[in-house]
Amino acid sequence: MKKHFKIAVLPGDGIGPEIIDAALKVLDVISKKYGITFEFEKALVGGAAIDAVGDPLPEETLKLCKESDAVLFGAVGGEKWDNLPTDKRPEKGLLRIRKELNLFANIRPAKAYDALLDASPLKQEIIKGVNLVVLRELTGDVYFGEPRGIEERNNERVGYNTMIYYEHEIKRIARLAFEIARGRRNKVTSVDKANVLEVSALWREVVNEVHNDYADVELEHMYVDNCAMQLIRRPRDFDVIVTGNIFGDIISDEAGALTGSLGMLPSASIGERYAFYEPIHGSAPDIAGKGIANPIATILSAAMMLELTCKLPEAARDIENAVEKVLEEGYRTADIWSVGTKRVNTQEMTEAIIKHL
Ligand code: IPM
Ligand code: MG
Repeated sequence: MKKHFKIAVLPGDGIGPEIIDAALKVLDVISKKYGITFEFEKALVGGAAIDAVGDPLPEETLKLCKESDAVLFGAVGGEKWDNLPTDKRPEKGLLRIRKELNLFANIRPAKAYDALLDASPLKQEIIKGVNLVVLRELTGDVYFGEPRGIEERNNERVGYNTMIYYEHEIKRIARLAFEIARGRRNKVTSVDKANVLEVSALWREVVNEVHNDYADVELEHMYVDNCAMQLIRRPRDFDVIVTGNIFGDIISDEAGALTGSLGMLPSASIGERYAFYEPIHGSAPDIAGKGIANPIATILSAAMMLELTCKLPEAARDIENAVEKVLEEGYRTADIWSVGTKRVNTQEMTEAIIKHL
């Protein structure tokens, strides 16, 4: 079994560097405990890369990602770069990595921790026990569809994008959804807008075809607007939600908010060859450099890396259990703090987690 892993580390902007440092500390402990070694190499991305070399995804960074077993990513973006055209923005660095590494599947788990039930905006009886995964297609759809642009027609400006899915793109994400469901509660909800969009009608048809190979898994279809509503009314009923890029972008933020804090949510983006791990939250420029950011989402993203890239599910469970324990002990960063709990900073939270490893 492989025991040495080269990891491209892309801290990015805002709180990115702080939370990445926290995850690296945890991985250090894990590597000793489980007898594996990591070679971490840092590279520029996002606004930090725009400032340094004028490109949100420098050639060097992309090359490093392609030579590595996995990419560990912080966050990109910030007010400073908000007025650049979409093509030059920090976010473009992230979108280009997804496309270049063919990371077609974005796995975003959302889980309600018992110790954090009061952090959720929903009533405890609705949120308790929620444990779902949003599987978002990540390299297709209106995000990348051509033609796209802003131009002048009939003496006024018009902006347009193309919502498009090829059959093979739908097939591979549907397969993965059924595979993931088999390791969970065996249920897939495919989310689309088939009552209006042709691209969704095809999506639904292809998902049904793939389902023939997975008859043991329950499949339901849901319109995206209804899904947005059901996620709030009865979130416990969802197991695996599979959907396209833009619906997945929106639904996964909603699923994240259910559990109380975006600061808790990890993600993995995978393709046939590469893997990329990042917290769901953004760069939070308002608290950057203060050392108070919640490192848990990034630490749990590292746990996903241990499971999916390093094939060490026991190390992943180890980290997840440690996170659960520190929450039970009452440790909280500012974003999840409530009266009666112990407010800690990034470093203290990280050390508390490491104590349980
Ligand atoms: C996400 C983000 C990105 C997206 C942005 C930063 C381009 O919102 O990962 O969900 O829209 O995919
Ligand atoms: Mg998003």
